[in-house]
Amino acid sequence: MKDVFFNSLCFCFFFFCSVFQFNRVSSQNGTERAAVPPRGWNSYNSFSWIISEEEYLKNAEVVANRLKSKGYEYVVVDYLWYRRNVPGAYADSLGFDVIDEWGRMVPDPSRWPSSQGGKGFTEVAKKVHDMGLKFGIHVMRGISTQAVNANTPILDISKGSAYEESGRKWFASDIGDKSRTCGWMKNGFMSVNMDSGASKAFLRSLYQQYADWGVDFVKLDCVFGDDLDLPQISFVSDVLKQLDRPILFSLSPGKTATPAMAKDVSGLVNMYRITGDDWDNWKDLVFHFNITRDFSAANMIGTTGLLGKSWPDSDMLPFGWLTDPAANEGPHRTTNLSVDEQRTQMTLWCMAKSPIMYGGDLRNIDDATFSLITNPTLLEINSFSSNNMEFLKVASTKVSHSQEKIVKWHSRDMVASVSPILGLTKCSDSDAAGWVTESLNRGLQKICWKANPKHKYETPFCVYKRGSQLAIYKEAASGHDEGDVCLDATQQRKRSSEEFRRGSFFPCRRHENQKWELHSNGTLGNQQSGECAIVKQNDAEGIESGVGSWIATGRGGEVYVALFNLNNEKTEISVKISDLAEALPGKGLGQPSCKCREEWSGKEFGVMSGSTIGTPLQTHASALFTINCS
Ligand SMILES: *[C@@H]1O[C@H](CO)[C@@H](O)[C@H](O)[C@H]1NC(C)=O
Ligand SMILES: *[C@@H]1O[C@H](CO)[C@@H](O)[C@H](O)[C@H]1NC(C)=O
Ligand SMILES: *[C@@H]1O[C@H](CO)[C@@H](O)[C@H](O)[C@H]1NC(C)=O
Ligand SMILES: *[C@@H]1O[C@H](CO)[C@@H](O)[C@H](O)[C@H]1NC(C)=O
Repeated sequence: MKDVFFNSLCFCFFFFCSVFQFNRVSSQNGTERAAVPPRGWNSYNSFSWIISEEEYLKNAEVVANRLKSKGYEYVVVDYLWYRRNVPGAYADSLGFDVIDEWGRMVPDPSRWPSSQGGKGFTEVAKKVHDMGLKFGIHVMRGISTQAVNANTPILDISKGSAYEESGRKWFASDIGDKSRTCGWMKNGFMSVNMDSGASKAFLRSLYQQYADWGVDFVKLDCVFGDDLDLPQISFVSDVLKQLDRPILFSLSPGKTATPAMAKDVSGLVNMYRITGDDWDNWKDLVFHFNITRDFSAANMIGTTGLLGKSWPDSDMLPFGWLTDPAANEGPHRTTNLSVDEQRTQMTLWCMAKSPIMYGGDLRNIDDATFSLITNPTLLEINSFSSNNMEFLKVASTKVSHSQEKIVKWHSRDMVASVSPILGLTKCSDSDAAGWVTESLNRGLQKICWKANPKHKYETPFCVYKRGSQLAIYKEAASGHDEGDVCLDATQQRKRSSEEFRRGSFFPCRRHENQKWELHSNGTLGNQQSGECAIVKQNDAEGIESGVGSWIATGRGGEVYVALFNLNNEKTEISVKISDLAEALPGKGLGQPSCKCREEWSGKEFGVMSGSTIGTPLQTHASALFTINCS
């Protein structure tokens, strides 16, 4: 970002220096859990599910050596640590998991050699603790399909033997509810009925084992947002409360989570995701502006949580050296976000007090990324600011197109980008009868969704079918070639909002999920699920444009003002000091003594005497001003 300016006068008499000491607030000894937004590293963005013990510990060492002093504390192994990394295994495969005699997941011994001999994560947790850090794991809802198929007995931890009730032993298939599989990992896990004593015993046996291993943080998946399972969240919360070991409780993901939904869970947990997965593209990032605003407006930031506080979680920071969503491979590419976009993400996450979990492979972190995620002002804001809110009185002037400057006072605009989303519904549902077929040459059929077009001139959503083949391709040219994508009814693991928008196309695998039949009544049936495809227009996730601003106050009396340019062109953005003073009374804004600094340019401004504060910002860039009037 260049040319920082104050819209009118700015006298640079003094230099205002904001040097903050990062005061670590430890949640270690049971005083208050998650007193500030938790901070750490998570393996998902860089390793998907395939991380090994060695790779994990190398990352933990970097956290210990370089990030711990900045408040990074939790080192979290993301999903499927129990899955064997062998041919055929993938994010929603069945039958590759390592489970114990009680149907509990245990680390894959070839990826986690120290777990051999029934030690689970004990050795890894000990090493992490010896580094002065906290050990975290990702876990799934309910019980695994594999345990249900193996019909393992259920451990009663109070007796150390099989759970008995009504004069009989209980087994995995007694508690697994096959009608409630996890939406995005249908083959892997299913819910359990929380009214049953055996289900409760099973969940207790899981969390007691995590505590025995030395786990400090659990990220429970497939129970929130789209997959809300309040009875289970509530029971796990009770179990964690009773354990001797303090374990932070995190929920993930949170697609379609709303503040109203969060109000039911925030007191039971320490953090909960408020979006689907966030990956390194602008659309995922920009989607967070409205969500974070809604959660701050509902006063959800830092409310009472499980034995402490709870925080709306915007997901990991996908910076640096990454892999791809649900991939069977580790880090192999750098982030797609520009430097300006990364700064914007870090600024929004800190202004909204989201937990900060770095996602890139730390063995390869570069200096620029390191300084971004350890920026002292941002981390200070993240931990200790208050009155965090979106500020709507922003003025913007687009710079690029013409000489004349039209100052617009507004908040953010929404450019509706109608994009198709594929869903499944019952074939008898009349809404599903929207497919129309057209024969092209050489046995190629074009099948288009014609029902309920939202806009008259919208291009219909079409797929292609060749001859009698059951698979349906995305492109007309597709044949049998490797690399084709097929219409797939699977709800794929860890779908980012971007992938969701593209519809469900995955590499052709001749899988039942990819076999379709066009019925004469205009429905398109899927062989595996027996359900029919439906296309919805998703304009709820339009692309934000315009400009945005967030404000907050610091513990030293300072005021923070972040300005965001969400436009695809350079834009001057400013706010009036008088409007700020109205939003944040008692901070002395407008007094002749206020001094100011902009973070990304590093510019120190002396005493401010203008009536506005602002700057031109490049596409997707942000500015962060610290104003001190004391
Ligand atoms: C908890 O930690 C704080 C800060 O380190 C310390 O002052 C306090 O004595 C500890 N309390 C217990 C019960 O260990
Ligand atoms: C990153 O960008 C490349 C092209 O620049 C694209 O092929 C890839 O799909 C992108 N990845 C993600 C996760 O957005
Ligand atoms: C369309 O036809 C299929 C197959 O015959 C049938 O299962 C489905 O219920 C029908 N749906 C409607 C909306 O008529
Ligand atoms: C985001 O907020 C703006 C108002 O600031 C609103 O017009 C828009 O519809 C919202 N977008 C979504 C996805 O809710």
